[in-house]
Amino acid sequence: MHGSTIIYLFSIIGIIYSQSYGTSYSTNRFYSPNQYNAKRLRPSIKVYYESQCPACKALDSTYFADVVKTLGPYLDIYTNPYGKAETLYNNNGSIEFQCQHGPVECYGNKLHACALDNIPNRQQALLFNGCMMEAGRPDGGSNDESADQCGALMSIDANAIKSCAKSQRSSVLLSNYGIETKAANIKWLPTVRINDVEWNGTGDGLMAAVCAAFTNPPAQCRGYI
Ligand SMILES: *[C@@H]1O[C@H](CO)[C@@H](O)[C@H](O)[C@H]1NC(C)=O
Ligand SMILES: *[C@@H]1O[C@H](CO)[C@@H](O)[C@H](O)[C@H]1NC(C)=O
Repeated sequence: MHGSTIIYLFSIIGIIYSQSYGTSYSTNRFYSPNQYNAKRLRPSIKVYYESQCPACKALDSTYFADVVKTLGPYLDIYTNPYGKAETLYNNNGSIEFQCQHGPVECYGNKLHACALDNIPNRQQALLFNGCMMEAGRPDGGSNDESADQCGALMSIDANAIKSCAKSQRSSVLLSNYGIETKAANIKWLPTVRINDVEWNGTGDGLMAAVCAAFTNPPAQCRGYI
């Protein structure tokens, strides 16, 4: 066998070996965010919540927001701001809601639904909603004032989102989230599912749980698993 052929074969074996037994973290050299678009590489995370539930605020504005910031482009992220609401379809075509924490929560849920509908960049939309859930936002957050504050912080036009929340559009969006929530058969809030398996951990373990769902975790998972 020619010398260079032998070197070539050993290189190939080395590459195969390092991919099989080497570090389990991929780097951008191997996987770009676009390559994670292939479904088999992109874990899904689903979060069911409502705007005024304290545990939802605690998770969405902190550990979940960190996951969105750090791993957003590598995940299929679905959030549903309906929670334990009920939808009333009136004969005249109007849609009304009853929410666990009253009308303030229904309006907040509508702001969340409208942000997801209005903000073209999904990661930004999710972070906008996380921002409205932060501790210290006025009157429990997820209201017009919070939308204005988060819009200013993130350079997002909150006027379109607020107008949507006051229009029939928001009722249509929220009632669709209601249908999806009922179908998901959730038991508590927030409900977090990673690759459709219920996640029962505490917030500080969310990043590790999400990272563990990758076949080939991106470099951002270094230190978490
Ligand atoms: C539609 O019907 C509901 C329930 O009867 C009522 O409260 C609401 O005002 C009506 N809306 C319109 C636009 O007529
Ligand atoms: C979390 O709890 C639910 C219900 O008790 C269970 O079905 C699910 O498998 C649990 N998830 C994990 C990751 O253990």
